[in-house]
Amino acid sequence: MSDLRQEIQNRRTFAIISHPDAGKTTITEKFLLYGGAIQEAGMVKGKKNSRHAVSDWMEIEKQRGISVTSSVLQFHYDQYCINILDTPGHQDFSEDTYRTLMAADSAVMVIDASKGVEAQTRKLFKVCVMRDIPIFTFINKMDREARDPYELLEEIENELGIGTYAVNWPIGSGKEFRGVYDRMDNEVIAFEGVDARHEVTATHLQFGSDELKERLSEVQYQTLADDIELLEGAGDEFDLDAVRHGKLSPVFFGSALTNFGVEPFLKKFLTMTTSPLPRNSDIGVIDPFDERFSAFVFKIQANMNKAHRDRIAFMRICSGKFERGKEVFHIQGGKKIQLAQPQQLMAQDRSIVDEAYAGDIIGVFDPGIFSIGDTVCDPKLKCTYSGIPTFAPELFATVRQKDTLKRKQFVKGVTQIAQEGAIQIFHEPNTGMEEVIVGVVGQLQFEVLEYRLKNEYGVDIIRDMLPYEHLRWIENDEEDFDYKKLMLTSDTRVVQDFRDHLLLLFTSPWNITWALDHNENLRLAEFSQNS
Ligand code: G4P
Repeated sequence: MSDLRQEIQNRRTFAIISHPDAGKTTITEKFLLYGGAIQEAGMVKGKKNSRHAVSDWMEIEKQRGISVTSSVLQFHYDQYCINILDTPGHQDFSEDTYRTLMAADSAVMVIDASKGVEAQTRKLFKVCVMRDIPIFTFINKMDREARDPYELLEEIENELGIGTYAVNWPIGSGKEFRGVYDRMDNEVIAFEGVDARHEVTATHLQFGSDELKERLSEVQYQTLADDIELLEGAGDEFDLDAVRHGKLSPVFFGSALTNFGVEPFLKKFLTMTTSPLPRNSDIGVIDPFDERFSAFVFKIQANMNKAHRDRIAFMRICSGKFERGKEVFHIQGGKKIQLAQPQQLMAQDRSIVDEAYAGDIIGVFDPGIFSIGDTVCDPKLKCTYSGIPTFAPELFATVRQKDTLKRKQFVKGVTQIAQEGAIQIFHEPNTGMEEVIVGVVGQLQFEVLEYRLKNEYGVDIIRDMLPYEHLRWIENDEEDFDYKKLMLTSDTRVVQDFRDHLLLLFTSPWNITWALDHNENLRLAEFSQNS
């Protein structure tokens, strides 16, 4: 097998998703510990940024290094080269998460066993389903009182509309937690309590063995025997093909904090998930093993280093091999460029990469030329990857600079922040940036915008909230479509985004229906493909 093929085949690129506090950070940290990428727990990131909103965001801003390291992590485990895409926990930054999911080949969904499916999980999950990527479920915190496992599986199936297959099955929970039964290996991994470092020692016992009977109470043993029978009788067959098409989610129970069931999960997950997948482009599906390099930008992070005002564009390599110093073609810019200061992140360190393969994520210095969704590729390939969907914001406001003399900085600031995808900006059709309407998913994004415009661009702004709550992109061909002829309720507004696509802002779903009812040919979309 060629080196290229081997390298790519060993790659696993996935995102970890969860509702805040379910245990995403803890599990990521355990993965890194197994991979030897960090030496002790607590190194991935400091305290949560979900509770104190803005002040914490500013703190993160000060320590950009930390937030960046927690966004992409690469480490080795067995023969695998693993890229973990971390996703911001705060719901106001969920757009960032959506985009990150576009760069992943599979997702690990962490669920708190006492809470089940929570709001944020539901939202993120929708995006995974949209892409049909494999989803693996880790039901965490079994060392605490947990909900009934059957009920949890049913909830996942009903709420998320995906089949489940329990790869292992818990024996009790909380103080009564005795371990899990591995259905594939037909053995019990017994939980023996935690030591001072919160690490467990686990023993593997055959089901039916005397040792296991001694360890469990009679009731527990009998319950387990009944559960096994029930699962085998009623349960679906394990179907790897269904897993790989995102139709069936393998479920694992465990406890990340006590390190129970995490490594067995990682091992099985790595064999069940796929190496980098082919991607759609305008010239057809591009095979990851194609020797010609191609990648797309899924995240832009500005001012990672205050002193240099730099921007880093994160790209997911989709095919071939990246080599430092080699010229690539930037499709949207229409010219050949060199990717400057390519870097990869490994736990705490950023290091320059000389080569990287399909599946890897690299960050490159962005002199302000990239937008989210852009493609770069080998000049011999020239393909354009389908854009990253832009989700409809739910809060809108007009913003303008307080000091009219700062107009130029203001326009530059909002434009750059919009290019990063941190906000979306709109304007009246064909009027340029005379009036800037900002759309966001969560209130916190407005505050961050204000903070950044002041700190990075020296501009104070005035913000007036607008009554709109829904946005739809107009999908009609612009050539034979005249938006001025649309019949709309008086509180509906036509605007344009920064790529000059037309869209409508509505104050209620009722108005959307009204618009569709009164304009026969109007076609509306809930998200736009940035291309
Ligand atoms: P997140 O990234 O998904 O937001 O969650 P994180 O890993 O930070 O975990 C949230 C809280 O849940 C943390 O406690 C963490 O220690 C705890 N936790 C994670 N996994 C388990 C588990 O398997 N069992 C138990 N009992 N707790 C778990 P915290 O008090 O908020 O933070 P900390 O003081 O422990 O850092």
